[in-house]
Amino acid sequence: MALSLERPLVLVGAGKMGSALLQGWLAKGLLPSLVDVRDPAPSPDIEALTARGLSLNAPVEEIAVKGPALVLLAVKPQSMAAVLPELSLLVSPHTVFLSIAAGTALHRLQDLLGPQAHVIRAMPNTPASIGRGITVACANSLVTAEQKAMADELLAAVGEVGWVESEALIDAVTAVSGSGPAYVFYMVECLAAAGEALGLEASLAMKLARETVSGAGEMLNRTDEPASSLRANVTSPGGTTAAALDVLMGEGGLSPLMRRAALAARDRARELGK
Ligand SMILES: NC(=O)c1ccc[n+]([C@@H]2O[C@H](COP(=O)([O-])OP(=O)(O)OC[C@H]3O[C@@H](n4cnc5c(N)ncnc54)[C@H](OP(=O)(O)O)[C@@H]3O)[C@@H](O)[C@H]2O)c1
Repeated sequence: MALSLERPLVLVGAGKMGSALLQGWLAKGLLPSLVDVRDPAPSPDIEALTARGLSLNAPVEEIAVKGPALVLLAVKPQSMAAVLPELSLLVSPHTVFLSIAAGTALHRLQDLLGPQAHVIRAMPNTPASIGRGITVACANSLVTAEQKAMADELLAAVGEVGWVESEALIDAVTAVSGSGPAYVFYMVECLAAAGEALGLEASLAMKLARETVSGAGEMLNRTDEPASSLRANVTSPGGTTAAALDVLMGEGGLSPLMRRAALAARDRARELGK
């Protein structure tokens, strides 16, 4: 479904995530002429969009006059304190700020923008760049139902969207889906390294690991069956997969390791928010 935005959208920080979201929106029909990008060192791809009407690094005063519907905050959490005070000129009941910064709490964003700022905090992930992201969001009490619906529509343009009432859960979401793609990529590296250790040539080991993870991911994508059933389906008692799973599911196996990894990510998200 094409995006139905009527008023301008501002993207602050056109790095990896900001650009991924913008590309998703343009692919869904958002007109570049409705977009204002602010980034001190924009990529050539972003610069090229100016030929199609995208506005780049216009003064905030000029953007304020246009009355943007939404301002996407996609700078690093550490940059928020430097970036937000200037953007407080854009605060209005008709403009919602959507932050995707890890760990940066709604009250902190509101402190930096001003008490009247309508703010949504969301956690997307990088598969958004191929339209297969998943985002979980949480809004402050000023955000209207229409603003939530607009943010939902924009985030849904790049994948699945969910909402939580309790903001504390966003740090947990960060630990699972926000950072999660990197865990899976690392698993590919480890599986390939294990193949090499068993005598496979490096390129073949990597090909096997990549195709196995992306193929298994696609199987998950095509069915509602639980992951545990898919696993059981390929595990014959006493067979080779069972032998490997005895290691992965045994004491000190993958489950406690993943728990520790996710806890570390959750705690880091909390630290970033301080
Ligand atoms: N990458 C992920 O997987 C992921 C997932 C979920 C959420 N996030 C969140 O998304 C946000 C962006 O992450 P990212 O990975 O996309 O980082 P990134 O690639 O470094 O993007 C941040 C962008 O903001 C720009 N920037 C810096 N100062 C600015 C300013 N004053 N005004 C406007 N733009 C400015 C940076 O420019 P310079 O490079 O020139 O400094 C860069 O282009 C972070 O808050 C992160 O927590 C990321």
